[in-house]
Amino acid sequence: MKDKVRYAVIGLGHGQEHVQAIMENPKAELAVCSDLDAAKFKKLNLPSEVRFTNSFEDILNMQDVDAVVIALPTPLHTEYAIRSMEAGKHVLCEKPLALNVEEGLKICEAVKRTGKVFQLGYEVRYSPFQEKMLEISRSGDIGKVANVWWNMFCQNSNDGWRANRKLRGGKIFDCGCHYYNILETWAGAPVKRLCAFGNLLGKTGPCADEIPESAIIVFEYENGVRGVFNLCDSCPNMQSSTCGIAGTDGKIEADPYYPYYAGSMKVHAHGGKYQYQIDIRGAKVPKHLGFDEQHESFISAVLNGTEVKVTAEQGVQVNRILDAIDESLATGNTVSL
Ligand SMILES: NC(=O)c1ccc[n+]([C@@H]2O[C@H](COP(=O)([O-])OP(=O)(O)OC[C@H]3O[C@@H](n4cnc5c(N)ncnc54)[C@H](O)[C@@H]3O)[C@@H](O)[C@H]2O)c1
Repeated sequence: MKDKVRYAVIGLGHGQEHVQAIMENPKAELAVCSDLDAAKFKKLNLPSEVRFTNSFEDILNMQDVDAVVIALPTPLHTEYAIRSMEAGKHVLCEKPLALNVEEGLKICEAVKRTGKVFQLGYEVRYSPFQEKMLEISRSGDIGKVANVWWNMFCQNSNDGWRANRKLRGGKIFDCGCHYYNILETWAGAPVKRLCAFGNLLGKTGPCADEIPESAIIVFEYENGVRGVFNLCDSCPNMQSSTCGIAGTDGKIEADPYYPYYAGSMKVHAHGGKYQYQIDIRGAKVPKHLGFDEQHESFISAVLNGTEVKVTAEQGVQVNRILDAIDESLATGNTVSL
């Protein structure tokens, strides 16, 4: 029985963070990296046994590769994920799943057909922060969940494929997708309908092609919970979020990145009778929330057959939300999913 997962990492932008997580995990081994730009690999200064190729075909044919991390621009996810699984590799694929719902469904079909492990890279879902938020809201301390929200403040850095809304560039799609997925877990039901208001600064009305610099999305979930995502992509020198869950008997106000890049929450429980504060200590700074944990979980799914927490089907649901946001921005209408 195998005791390690041997990885290939394709794409060495954000993929570098996967390289680091794999190198630090005793149950993982980095066999090979791939990028169009060999200089990115050289810069990483990895041990000599880690190979490099710029050919995807090479990786598909490598018998000593069990799993492929796809850290490529979003438009390439579908082809690379399907061909990797058809070649017998397990896949950890970056988010969002695909460019649209139709492509995402093709990935779901390939997962079923090949029987390979497929995990989607919504790493925050694996974080201690997310676990604590769910634990508190499910404990009954804040009553029945009524309302969920996420505020994101950052500065526009949408270049390359990220500057193109059709390629799912822009914070509202590229980063927001993490939070639409998390808000559904807090609400406890899928989005039923949504309305997105967003535009360039100073402009009002529908927004057909541009990437909004400021936006608010209002969600209604199937169980009647309401939600809000609030984005300001023009806050210089700031990259931060605040978020929370309000219930019929209290609320959780949270900062997912402060302190220790790991998160904290202030809980008003039982009608305000009790208040407590929880800080979560981060193991490694700075890293995306839940990054190491998502690899732990993937490795366990590959080696021990444990369940995948963020599946391709969940990825398709987020793609439905992204498509609905795109439509609502363009038309100004409320969109049902
Ligand atoms: N989970 C997260 O928090 C998180 C954070 C950042 C990015 N991402 C996701 O990771 C993916 C990649 O984003 P990024 O920021 O690294 O993008 P990027 O454009 O900065 O980097 C992509 C890399 O892939 C390489 N590449 C492009 N086409 C290739 C090909 N055919 N074969 C091999 N290499 C190729 C490029 O040379 C580049 O080095 C996207 O899906 C993005 O949404 C996720």
